[in-house]
Amino acid sequence: MAEKDDTLKKVISHSKEYGFVFQSSEIYDGLSATYDYGQYGSELKNNIKKYWWMSMVQMHENIVGIDAAIFMHPTTWKASGHIDAFNDPLIDNKDSKKRYRADVLIEDYIAKIEGKINKDITKAKKRFGDDFNETEFRNTNPNVTRRQEQINDVNTRMADALNSDDLENVRQLIIDLGIKCAVSGTANWTEVRQFNLMFGTELGSVSGESATIYLRPETAQGIFVNYLNVQKTSRMKLPFGIAQIGKAFRNEIVARQFIFRMREFEQMEMQFFIKPGTQMEWYQYWKNTRMKWHNALGFGEDNYRFHDHIKLAHYADAACDIEFNYPMGFKELEGIHSRTDFDLGAHQEHSKKNLTYFDSETNERYLPYVLETSIGLDRMFLSVLTKSYAEETLKDGSSRVVLRIPPALAPVKVAIFPLTKKDGLPEKARAIMHKIKLDHNCQYEEKDAIGKRYRRQDAIGTPFCITVDHETLENNTITIRERDSMKQERVDINDLAQIISSKVSISNLINQE
Ligand code: GAP
Repeated sequence: MAEKDDTLKKVISHSKEYGFVFQSSEIYDGLSATYDYGQYGSELKNNIKKYWWMSMVQMHENIVGIDAAIFMHPTTWKASGHIDAFNDPLIDNKDSKKRYRADVLIEDYIAKIEGKINKDITKAKKRFGDDFNETEFRNTNPNVTRRQEQINDVNTRMADALNSDDLENVRQLIIDLGIKCAVSGTANWTEVRQFNLMFGTELGSVSGESATIYLRPETAQGIFVNYLNVQKTSRMKLPFGIAQIGKAFRNEIVARQFIFRMREFEQMEMQFFIKPGTQMEWYQYWKNTRMKWHNALGFGEDNYRFHDHIKLAHYADAACDIEFNYPMGFKELEGIHSRTDFDLGAHQEHSKKNLTYFDSETNERYLPYVLETSIGLDRMFLSVLTKSYAEETLKDGSSRVVLRIPPALAPVKVAIFPLTKKDGLPEKARAIMHKIKLDHNCQYEEKDAIGKRYRRQDAIGTPFCITVDHETLENNTITIRERDSMKQERVDINDLAQIISSKVSISNLINQE
């Protein structure tokens, strides 16, 4: 656990030192749970967006993208259920005055028991080596089965209490489990209350004429209210999808763990409109498709897992998360939700507009069902950064910090160094860069020894460094050094564009999906 926490701390300080993520309004001591992306962070973020957009929109003939406004008519949120039901159960510790999400306190308790199970499994793996059968061990080891039963009991009690909105029982569960405040160490809890997560603000400048509007808590509603506009103007037939990338805002009670849980964040969402009755088939399809998208990055299949929702959101008939193995454990990265016709039905009722789709094959009118994939861009960013961060001791005894970011997502693709600042080498290096920068984000560096320049590029994850030396002037060749292996190769300048493109193009990732 200590080692895992350490990685997050290191990544936070590395992000700041190398221009990936800064605390927002830092000169005023910052604003909690709000962050700014720096020069390399915004490049990485843009590349993740590009990867998602290409896979979802460009590669699917039946998916198109839109960019809806953040502000929407206030009735949108009444219809979507967010005004009435977009709540988190909160609880305060009376001694420390610290506020918690009641369900998160219980989930953390469960995670501790899971941690103990995992420890037992790791020990047994070591003891039995290749003969170890994890499923059998989970089903038969008395310690593990007892702990698993305990987890199941807690999960059932939590789901029952939350699904029936029985907040007194949620509190009782916290007390029965002996959960204590991490600050005061006491179990002196208030009652559990529901807290709405939407940020409201006033529209209109004349007093008395204003109305409360909300910063959208999800991008999805901009897609639902536009679905017929898009369908008609693109002449699309079911099944078809609408994708969008944009900001969302939630007044999170407990915003923590760096950019994992923020009050202002970005989502990449896709609503897939389907024939009612086909939702389980599409649910499976999108679960597989999205998991492949993640695995194509090469961080290892073990770092992802599905987690079925116990408490379904007010709009879903099936839902799961793709969880990622962050330094603080497996946590939600993406949600896949079967939203039925809840949203379209509610908008039809509140707007009094006919939102049905005409199916020309069956000559019927009906409301499509919707399958949603929803991923947090900032959580994706954090997953990439935490798994890419590595500290290495090199053969000569020196050390380096390297971000092994998949080349297609790396902020800078190529760094170009003249060996010295004279003899026409800078001019030659700049001429090479001038050509490459048409296709790739490049950086020119001439200060310090080559070794130091390599270290700086390793620290921001640049996959290739190119050195221009005196031989370059004689025979038109340069050395190209690869980030991960640190191998250097002498190649012809004319082959450079092809070598780089073959490694850093996003299409490499798409081809592996
Ligand atoms: N439209 C469905 C929806 O919004 P969600 O599970 O509430 O579903 C989708 O959110 C994704 O948005 C999550 O899987 C997560 O990656 C991201 N997300 C949600 N709240 C977040 C927050 N406070 N900070 C950063 N990312 C968040």
